[in-house]
Amino acid sequence: MFEDIQEVLVTREALEEKVKELGKRISKDYEGKELVLIGVLKGGVVFFADLIRHITIPIEMDFISVSSYGNSTKSSGVVRIIKDIDIDITNKHVLIVEDLVDTGLTLRYLKDLFEDRGPKDVKVCTALDKPSRRKVDVPIAYNGITIPDKFVVGYGLDFGGKYRNLPDVCVLKESVYDNKVD
Ligand code: PRP
Ligand code: MN
Ligand code: MG
Repeated sequence: MFEDIQEVLVTREALEEKVKELGKRISKDYEGKELVLIGVLKGGVVFFADLIRHITIPIEMDFISVSSYGNSTKSSGVVRIIKDIDIDITNKHVLIVEDLVDTGLTLRYLKDLFEDRGPKDVKVCTALDKPSRRKVDVPIAYNGITIPDKFVVGYGLDFGGKYRNLPDVCVLKESVYDNKVD
């Protein structure tokens, strides 16, 4: 796995520091409110697990599984729900937890989906933001780290289902994805 890495873009230490900061802000902003954190599988799972341990107020949690990338480095633009949440978010504050906002298509879709279910509000928290690739605008209430337009893996992010367990956000060697179809 490590031989496929060109460079580390965001270290685990930098991620940890940001996650702490976001946890603090969220705990303060949602004090006394009914907050539901919705993790977006699969990529969001690592950040989600780190983030909730820095939130000091009661929360509920659920997961939705969607996919738009498949085995490619490019978004297909079509978001598919693989597994929906099962709790009722009516009159609750919803915070969607993602690993990365790229084109914004996944989050735009999810925000619209949850907003139709009568919550108090729906906001977004992401570990990484790649604004240079945006196709649709999505407001990000809680952003970890803004990154350049490089294809990255690790900290939940995959290529072809692999590399999610790398603790740092890393740039893959071009040779790894060059010869695959996208
Ligand atoms: C990745 C990533 C985000 C989304 C961001 O998920 O985890 O959910 O793409 O891209 P966008 O802003 O262009 O929509 P992916 O579809 O690869 O599924 P995964 O989380 O299971 O890897
Ligand atoms: Mn994802
Ligand atoms: Mg993916």
